Amino acid sequence: MSDTVLLERRDRVALLTLNRPEALNALNTELLTTLSAHVAELAEDQEIGCIVITGSQKAFAAGADIKEMRDKGYIEMLMSDFFGRYGAISACRTPILAAVSGYALGGGCELAMMCDAIYASDTAKFGQPEIRLGVIPGMGGSQRLTRAVGKAKAMDMILTGRMMDAEEAERCELVARIFPADTLLDEVMKIAETIAGYSRPSVFAAKEAVNRSFEVSLSEGLHYEHRVFYPLFATEDQKEGMTAFVEKRKPDFRHR
Ligand code: CAA
Repeated sequence: MSDTVLLERRDRVALLTLNRPEALNALNTELLTTLSAHVAELAEDQEIGCIVITGSQKAFAAGADIKEMRDKGYIEMLMSDFFGRYGAISACRTPILAAVSGYALGGGCELAMMCDAIYASDTAKFGQPEIRLGVIPGMGGSQRLTRAVGKAKAMDMILTGRMMDAEEAERCELVARIFPADTLLDEVMKIAETIAGYSRPSVFAAKEAVNRSFEVSLSEGLHYEHRVFYPLFATEDQKEGMTAFVEKRKPDFRHR
């Protein structure tokens, strides 16, 4: 696979590092195809319990590759479904965390939002600057940013093209937590190891249930939660988790 994305396995966590430093990790077709292929493969890997996507200190990703897009026409964009081809990331049942330092702009912000949680360094800058280029967000920004931060803030970001810093991003709930830039990746890898140490059926169920809340009404969502909660009582890991609590020891989950 292309070296525009580097894959490293650390025990049960897979680290994917975007690697186009000369273009601030701009997301060209080669990079997005490689990233999707890695995620699709890792999603099938029983040894991997959590995936982390990161970039460099300067840029998580400065957006879709403007140089690649500039001369494209409508029919080419439509027929190739230019940004609709990367469903592997949101389809992945294994949790994916984004560790964001520096710029996460346009497609970079959208890629981070495809992940299950965004952890930012204090240097992170988020934005959807597509309006400055005569277009709009095309990898989910108009939908995911609005769900994350609400209409007023999403309109403000998308209509002005301004950037927000990490503190503002945490305040408006785009970001789960902020860490100093030099410890961000270590901290996110620790979070990923924690998740990867839990019972996989409960991790899948938790991710599915939270994601479901974005699709359905509250009553349907609550009903759905019960439907995925009860079957966990058919797993050995539910017995192990609760028994370990009662016996005051660490659980030894079988289906990690
Ligand atoms: N596409 C292609 N190349 C990019 C790029 C992008 N999105 N972002 C940066 N680069 C390239 C620059 O062209 C430059 O290359 P050269 O050295 O060959 O000129 C290199 O990366 C370094 O960038 P800068 O010199 O611009 O670095 P800077 O520190 O002065 O500025 C920046 C950093 C503010 C992030 C600036 O690069 C920038 O504004 N980038 C574009 C951000 C943007 O508009 N993103 C949205 C893209 S459209 C999109 O994403 C559509 C969608 O919804 C899917």
